[in-house]
Amino acid sequence: MESILKEKIREAVKVLYKGDAANELIQIQETRKDFKGDFTLVVFPLLRFSKNTPEKTGETIGNYLTATFPAIKGYNVIKGFLNLEISDAWWIENFSKMISESNLFGKSLVSNPETILIEYSSPNTNKPLHLGHIRNNLIGFSLYRILSACGHRVIKTNIVNDRGIHICKSMLAWQKYGNVETPESTGMKGDHLVGKYYVMFEKEYKLQADELMKKGLDEDEARNSAPLMKEAREMLIKWEAGDKEVLDLWMKMNSWVYAGFDETYRALGVDFDEIYYESETYQHGKDIILDALKKGVLYKKDDSSIWIDLTADNLDNKLLLRSDGTAVYITQDIGTAVLRQAKYGFNKCIYVVGNEQNYHFQVLKAVLKRIGYKWSDGLIHFSYGMVELPEGRMKSREGTIVDADDLINEMKITAREVSLELGKLADFNEDEKEEVFRKIGLGALKYFILKVDPRKNMTFNPAESIDFNGNTGPFIQYTFARIKSVLRKADQTNIKYDNNILSDTTLGAKEILLIKLLRNFKINVSEAAEGYSPAIVANYCYELAREYNQFYHDFSILGEENPSIRNLRLALSEVTGRVLGSGMWLLGIEMPERM
Ligand code: ARG
Repeated sequence: MESILKEKIREAVKVLYKGDAANELIQIQETRKDFKGDFTLVVFPLLRFSKNTPEKTGETIGNYLTATFPAIKGYNVIKGFLNLEISDAWWIENFSKMISESNLFGKSLVSNPETILIEYSSPNTNKPLHLGHIRNNLIGFSLYRILSACGHRVIKTNIVNDRGIHICKSMLAWQKYGNVETPESTGMKGDHLVGKYYVMFEKEYKLQADELMKKGLDEDEARNSAPLMKEAREMLIKWEAGDKEVLDLWMKMNSWVYAGFDETYRALGVDFDEIYYESETYQHGKDIILDALKKGVLYKKDDSSIWIDLTADNLDNKLLLRSDGTAVYITQDIGTAVLRQAKYGFNKCIYVVGNEQNYHFQVLKAVLKRIGYKWSDGLIHFSYGMVELPEGRMKSREGTIVDADDLINEMKITAREVSLELGKLADFNEDEKEEVFRKIGLGALKYFILKVDPRKNMTFNPAESIDFNGNTGPFIQYTFARIKSVLRKADQTNIKYDNNILSDTTLGAKEILLIKLLRNFKINVSEAAEGYSPAIVANYCYELAREYNQFYHDFSILGEENPSIRNLRLALSEVTGRVLGSGMWLLGIEMPERM
């Protein structure tokens, strides 16, 4: 509409004032809710042609449009704003197109599809996933779906931090205190079992350090000389030297962890196209660094450690390889980025990583740039905020860290309690019920997290997230199920509907509002893609669900006697259901047909 309107207004300026209005002078926006009308023309920029008051100019253009353009049925002018009212027939025609559209996102939304690599999750293998990872995974996976829906080629990747001193800590503790426990022998999930030994290491290590401090060592000395820490360091050296025994243990324990992670990813409904392992990329990073040193981009200190001077980029001097030649955190990132670029030739690589690593990613980009990789301009740190539970809730086995598996389980349990209370699923068998509870519990979790601007810190409130009447996933799911139930009933009672909405059907304000919202779906999806913000899609879905519910309360659908109005209302319900389904799909949220 906006583009046809613009054309018409340009024509009006030509005919009425003999002027040639450039595109940017014709500003059209949706009319604000408190005014009558659908689209509003900002008149001020056109005064240069009319040489008249804003009111008079608005009147004249409004008059012209109403007389010559059948889609405009009336207008009003308020100050310098011309509010145009669109005819029902135009809305109906527009809506009819939507009904028959099979792809609601419009695969061709972007004119310049890019190859985008998106990295998310990226855990360490010494601990199970926690609430922060949940937010990370949900954002990453949803961005993947949104960007793909807009026509980009998107590759989902993960980098597992599977080597280093922290991994040796859990290995060492298991070796010392583990009594050859395995996931099978204990019935424990592998990542939890390994996490247990990491915690055990930290505990024993602290006891040793405290003991040494009592003997008069200062904290640093005590921490460095504690026997457990020495052993862990020795283990790391053996690992880097390829010691068979250490590598076997490492592979065994990591395989437990991966089985555990897989289970959590599956429960969360996220996956990856390619998983990178730090153990396989850090060496490449080292090679690149040594090469760059030769070229004089880096410098070596007396102790043989290798550095880069980034002060010209307003960053610090940064260590890239330790004096003993071992890798640091950024070493692997350098190698991984280069490998990814070589394999995929990405235009952009989006790292979904918490905002505590802002500096790290500034440095990474600057280092790659300095070494000469022009594509490093395409590295984007998607920096998201912290997520916590409300004060005093859910202490996990590791203290304040909220375990991902525990939380997912708890959500299902809460969904069961809430749904059974509402007593809706009487005729479901147990499996069907469990499936609905799973969808609701996860829908609540995912929606509550994704509706928030990813950059902001947030509190995840489980009870609030599952409120069927709030701005929640279950509210939207419930609206969807309600639509499905209307459509099923229509089917059962043999009420047919089709996409042939008669153009003389009269529309109510609520119906027009729904049509307007529905046609905004695509714009919201592309804005979400451009701003990397699933929250835009989430809040759009909520608004649509809310409007539909209003409409559902105010009008009867199946009980409507006029067949063409009934047809319109059924079609509106069907398209709303489809858009809600697609919108929530973009967020990775499943929708129950009944609940
Ligand atoms: N495993 C790291 C951590 O837990 C996060 C990795 C983020 N990604 C990256 N490419 N550095 O802190």
